[in-house]
Amino acid sequence: MSKAEMSDAAASPLFCLNLILLLLVSLQVSESAIGVNWGTVSLHKMKPSTVVDLLKENKIQKVKLFDTDPDVLASLMGSGIQVMAGVPNEMLAALASSTLASDLFIRQNISRYVVKGGTDIRYIAAGNEPFLSSYAGQFQNYVVPALLNLQQSLAKANLAGYVKLVVPCNADAYESNIPSQGAFRPELLQIITQLVSFLNSNGSPFIVNIYPFLSLYGNSDFPQDYAFFEGTTHAVTDGPNVYYNAFDGNLDTLVAALNRIGYGQMPIVIGEVGWPTDGAVGANLTAARVFNQGLINHVLGNKGTPLRPGVPPMDIYLFSLLDEGAKSVLPGNFERHWGIFSFDGQAKYALNLGSGNKLLKNANNVGYLPSRWCVADPAKDLSGVANHMKIACSVADCTTLNYGGSCNEIGAKGNISYAFNSFYQLQMQNAQSCDFDGLGIVTFQDPSVGECRFLVGVTGTSSSDFVAYQRWITILISSGVWLFAM
Ligand SMILES: *[C@@H]1O[C@H](CO)[C@@H](O)[C@H](O)[C@H]1NC(C)=O
Ligand SMILES: *[C@@H]1O[C@H](CO)[C@@H](O)[C@H](O)[C@H]1NC(C)=O
Ligand SMILES: *[C@@H]1O[C@H](CO)[C@@H](O)[C@H](O)[C@H]1NC(C)=O
Repeated sequence: MSKAEMSDAAASPLFCLNLILLLLVSLQVSESAIGVNWGTVSLHKMKPSTVVDLLKENKIQKVKLFDTDPDVLASLMGSGIQVMAGVPNEMLAALASSTLASDLFIRQNISRYVVKGGTDIRYIAAGNEPFLSSYAGQFQNYVVPALLNLQQSLAKANLAGYVKLVVPCNADAYESNIPSQGAFRPELLQIITQLVSFLNSNGSPFIVNIYPFLSLYGNSDFPQDYAFFEGTTHAVTDGPNVYYNAFDGNLDTLVAALNRIGYGQMPIVIGEVGWPTDGAVGANLTAARVFNQGLINHVLGNKGTPLRPGVPPMDIYLFSLLDEGAKSVLPGNFERHWGIFSFDGQAKYALNLGSGNKLLKNANNVGYLPSRWCVADPAKDLSGVANHMKIACSVADCTTLNYGGSCNEIGAKGNISYAFNSFYQLQMQNAQSCDFDGLGIVTFQDPSVGECRFLVGVTGTSSSDFVAYQRWITILISSGVWLFAM
């Protein structure tokens, strides 16, 4: 186009319209996506297809998984949802030591899904927080060799440009009191430098998990309002920059650490971020809603951080989609309550994900067991019930009963009923499982009190899993050996 034509065209309304459209498109392209983590360490699993419908109903376009469960990957086929699949840390050693293993992994778990009308796997997360301090280095030396093997295998499968390898890191990979002084932990420096160089040459982002909740939970001096996005009386001043929330402060500590090793421009994705709703004093519905909504608005507002003004994280994946009642409670009882939805896909609070719906939509066709519950028989003397409770709660989830939990104040009898019911639902309402030496009784009246919900199980669990699980319970009961998960 010549200069003259250009100015003519520029004057035409059509050109202006085109320009506006172009601008709109480019704005949309640069906008961060709000995805979710879909973990499956659940006691009551919905059918994967029900979960995928839930994602679609809520216009969630990106999902992060922790493994490559065939049922889950199959359920995402044709959904148009972009997927980050996961390689468990335990597999890194094998993948690092053998290209045969990595070829097989890519063939069995990735490339057969990435076909027309298949599952749109865009990322493979090699390991999950493999550098976590508490792992004491047991995985860290496998990460880069595993990446190199997997990359070769992807190339062989003609997927090297399409599926990108990434490594979600916990924010404990770097440290500093003020963001501008951010640096990776000295013992990780070499490995992280190799990792980041690999990511950079493949056009992959750095993935980090950031948890202001854990900062608050782990440190009674942590200013509460700094964990949220509503302004703070404890702003952190760092030279010319002022930080009003822990999320930005943490993110810029990473930016500074990346800058220190020569990759200050590396794109960043937040692999996990969220707030639990139960199981600890600071974990409740209000706090979770305020945090997550503040986060979403902050990120979609494209403000960025002081070190990256106007550049928000590429994408963020909320932790988590669903509650996972079978997770270890080692980190705390809150660990089973991170979902924006309960285990059965019911929205816990009002949340606008910024994708068109003003509120979360509940899962449809969940497939509940019948509406009945197991409670303590009010006519019985319950003095000898302690052992039954222990047994029930060692396999079922009773975390909400503890201090700070939503069922902490339902009284001694309420506690017993809650434990009985949780066990009974886990046993798919098998009549014998409500016996408890004659102390349990089935009721058709919902015993839930206030925010304390007595659950009804779902039928989504595949029967083979359940048979194996029942057998395991039976073995435990008959051998008189009990493992206490709590
Ligand atoms: C495929 O993934 C599953 C689950 O993540 C894993 O157990 C299995 O070993 C993988 N297959 C190969 C060939 O690596
Ligand atoms: C909910 O949690 C927040 C902090 O996370 C706390 O300030 C508030 O008191 C809690 N609310 C209730 C009702 O416990
Ligand atoms: C119910 O159980 C919880 C957790 O064990 C305990 O903290 C609480 O005190 C119990 N309530 C009563 C009234 O015994």
